[in-house]
Parts: sequence; C-alpha cells; structure tokens
Amino acid sequence: MNPIIDQLLERRTHRAFTPDPIMKEHEELIKKATLRAPTAGNMMFYSVIEVSDPAKKELLARLCDNQGMIASAPLVWLFLSDVRKWVNYYHEGSSVSKGEAQGIAWRKPGAGDLLLAMSDAIIAAQSAVIAADSLGIGSCYIGDILEQHEQIVELFGLPQYVAVATLVIFGYPKNPEPLAFPAIRCPEASIFMENRYEEPHLAQLHAAFGAQEERLRQQNRLPFDNTGTIADYYYFRKHTSDFMEEMNRSSKLLVDGWLR
Ligand SMILES: Cc1cc2nc3c(=O)[nH]c(=O)nc-3n(C[C@H](O)[C@H](O)[C@H](O)COP(=O)(O)O)c2cc1C
Repeated sequence: MNPIIDQLLERRTHRAFTPDPIMKEHEELIKKATLRAPTAGNMMFYSVIEVSDPAKKELLARLCDNQGMIASAPLVWLFLSDVRKWVNYYHEGSSVSKGEAQGIAWRKPGAGDLLLAMSDAIIAAQSAVIAADSLGIGSCYIGDILEQHEQIVELFGLPQYVAVATLVIFGYPKNPEPLAFPAIRCPEASIFMENRYEEPHLAQLHAAFGAQEERLRQQNRLPFDNTGTIADYYYFRKHTSDFMEEMNRSSKLLVDGWLR
C-alpha cells in the first residue's frame, strides 16, 4: 500500500505514556500539521489551549470522570470552537459599523457558526492525532470534557462564542506495539451508503456489531450473565448512564450559552 494508509490502518488509542516530555521538534511538527488541516473558508474557527499547569491537569482529570492519565500525560491540548476571534475582529476593526452605515445589521453567531467551528476544531484535532502517530506519539481523545461545562468555562476563561470541542492527550506510548486484538470496527457495508440513507434494523445491526458482540462474549463482559447483547451492553453502560445524563446537561448549557 503506502505509508500513510499503513499508518492509518495501524493507529490506535494509547492511554499509558512514558513520563518523557514531547520533544520540542516533535511538538513543532504536530503544530505545523495541525495548522494545515482544512478549515471552513480558511477562517480557522478554532483555538488550542495547551494545558501545562499540573494543577489544571489534575483538576481536568478529576472533572473528566477521574481519568488519571490526563494528569500524567506529557501533552494535553484542549481544542476549542472559536468564533469569538472574528466577532472581536468584526467589531474592533469596525466592519460592524461599516455594515450598519449600509443598513446591514449585526448578526449574532448562531447554531450554524457553532457547528462549523466544531467541525474546524475536530478536524484540526484529528490532524494533530495523525501527525503525532506518525512521530511515534500516542494519543487519546477525552469525550468527558463535554461534562462539567461551568467548571471548564471558568478554568480556562472561555468567553461567549468559544466552546469546548474536544480534549486530546499525547505522549510516547508505554507499549508502542500493535495490539494483538485491536478494537473491532463495523463492516464497510454497515457504514457506507449510496445516494440515500438506509435505516438499519435488527438484522443489519446484528451484522454491523456481531463481531464486537462476539469479542465481548468471549471476554465474559456482556450483561445478564454474559447472555445479553452488545445493545444491552451499551444501553446500560453508556446510554442510560449518569455520565451521559451529565454530558447532555452540560452540552445543553454550552449550546444555550452560545445562542443566548
Ligand atoms: C469523541 C471521542 C471521545 C473519546 N473519549 C474517551 C475517553 O474519555 N476516555 C478514553 O479512554 N478513550 C476515549 N476515546 C477513545 C475511544 O475509546 C477509542 O477511540 C475507541 O475505543 C476505539 O479504539 P481505537 O482508537 O484504539 O481504535 C474517545 C474517542 C473519541 C473519538
């Protein structure tokens, strides 16, 4: 094949890192690659906060469901959707007043701006993940950053029109070897569709997630004494969990705060 495809096919999440700091030249290359990520209208609706303060990292680890690896990871990047920079530029650079003189009223950023900025930030994050991987640096996304909106806003001083997109931690992997049993993905046919959405029902869903269910059964991890399905597993572990309740509460605040 080619080295980029090989790398993409071998990438996996790493959660255990050596204590070595990320080499300066590696960090520079990751930043350069991140900046080349596609961005809506080339407007770069995102910012990245490097969380280097050990106290902030500790607090983040606690806020993100006690995931201790956040505190010990050598590099922690918080990816933000950021339309604030343009709001300020439009106002402070007098575009708004020039518009008003022509009868064009100021438009507050809305849901579209938020989704576009989220796309920018997450695409940039994935470029960072792939660039890091190519340098032998492992990474892990931390979805729990979407919980605890109020504390995150305060901890990082986020104004309106700056919202958390994702958190990624990086480090040199403790175990760089490929996993004997990497995470199983759904078959192509269950993901790729043509021209129209094909709603999956029970038979298709069994086909899509059957191999993952089999793995969990072999590991004796399914509910109801290992007789349950993978749907039961995720339904009870994730879908109806307290943390999803919290994530939805927190994410609603994020959206409401942006749109207010
Ligand atoms: C949006 C998102 C949020 C995630 N959040 C977490 C997390 O909070 N903690 C964690 O250990 N892994 C997290 N992960 C990593 C996934 O668990 C991992 O990508 C998945 O199990 C597939 O494994 P792989 O990346 O090794 O193929 C997250 C991944 C994504 C894309």
